[in-house]
Amino acid sequence: MRRAKISIIGAGNVGATTAHWCAAAELGDVVLLDIPATEGMPAGKALDLFQASPIVGFDARLTGTTDWQDTASSDVVVVTAGIARKPGMSRDDLLSTNAKIVGDVAARIRDTSPNAVVIVVSNPLDAMVQRTFQVTGFPAHRVIGQAGILDTARYRAFLAMELGVSVEDISAMLLGGHGDTMVPIPSCTSVGGIPVTQLIPAERLEAIVKRTRDGGAEIVSLLKTGSAYYAPAAATAQMVEAVVRDKKRLVPCAAYCDKEYGVGGFFVGVPVILGSGGVEKIVELRLEPQERAGLDKSIAAVKELVAVMNRLTA
Ligand code: NAI
Ligand code: 2OP
Repeated sequence: MRRAKISIIGAGNVGATTAHWCAAAELGDVVLLDIPATEGMPAGKALDLFQASPIVGFDARLTGTTDWQDTASSDVVVVTAGIARKPGMSRDDLLSTNAKIVGDVAARIRDTSPNAVVIVVSNPLDAMVQRTFQVTGFPAHRVIGQAGILDTARYRAFLAMELGVSVEDISAMLLGGHGDTMVPIPSCTSVGGIPVTQLIPAERLEAIVKRTRDGGAEIVSLLKTGSAYYAPAAATAQMVEAVVRDKKRLVPCAAYCDKEYGVGGFFVGVPVILGSGGVEKIVELRLEPQERAGLDKSIAAVKELVAVMNRLTA
C-alpha cells in the first residue's frame, strides 16, 4: 500500500515533534523542511528520528531538507514555519513577521503540492490560516488551522487535575479564535457522561477556563526561550491522522466559515468532521446566549486581526 506523504514546513520545536508523533504512529513518510540558513538541521533531525525506528519499531521514510522539490505532491502539508513567542509577547505580536513567512510558504505549497490538505499551526493562528487560504487559492475545505484540539486538550487536562479523574473520561468543546477570546461550551463538557456543571462549582470552572485561555502563555513563562510544542504537535498529528486515515473525527479546528455561525468568510474555531477531504462538514451547535455573545466577540477579534494582516500584506 502506498504510504501517505506528509511534509512539515519548519523543522523547529513544533515541526520536529509533529514529525516524531507522525512517524511513530506510521501515518506516512515524513519530509521535514526548513530554510537554507539552518544548513543540516532538518536532515540531522530526520536522520536521528529514523535511527529511532529500529528501537521503537516503526516504518516511515524520513527526509530532512531545504529543497521544496522534496515536498512535491504531498498529501498533507503542515505549516509550522515562523517565529514563536518569547515571554511578554502575545501571539498577535508575531503577526507581521509570520504573515510574510507564511505567505512565502503558502506560495511554495501551491506550486509543489497543489492537491494537498494544508494544516496551519503558525501563529497568530486564525490570521495565518486565512493568509494560507488567500495565497494558495486552495478550496477552503483543504485549508485548516490547528488550535482547538490543543486548547480543548489543555481544558481537559486541567479538568482532570481538578477532579482527580482520568483525562480519558473528559470530553469538551471550545469554539472561537486561538487566543484570549476562546469560548468554552459547558453544555458540551462532560466527565464520564456527567455534565461538568454538576461536578465543579461555577467560579472554579471559570478559573479553569481562564487558565486554559492563558495556557500558551503559562508554558512560555516557564520555558522562557520559546512556546509549547509537545501538546501542539500531538494535536497536529491527530489532525494529520484524521486526514490520512479518513477517520471522520469530530474535533474543533479553525475552518473557513461563511454562512456557518454567521461568520462571513473567515477562519474560526468550530467543530468539524475531519477526513481525507479535509473539513468535510462544519457542525453548527445551538448556543446559549452567553456562549453566542462570547463567540461573536471572538469572531470580531479574528476579523480585526485579519484586517491588520491584510493592510500589512497589501
Ligand atoms: P521554532 O522557532 O522552534 O521553529 C520554527 C521554524 O520555522 C524554525 O526552524 C525556522 O527556521 C523555520 N522557518 C522560518 N521561516 C521559514 C520558512 N520560510 N520556511 C521554512 N521554515 C521556516 O518555533 P516553534 O516552537 O516550532 O513554533 C512554530 C510556530 O507555531 C510559531 O509561530 C508558534 O507561535 C506556533 N505555534 C502554534 C500553536 C497552535 O496551537 N496553533 C502551538 C504552538 C506553536
Ligand atoms: C500555544 O498556545 C504558542 O499558540 C501557542 O501554546
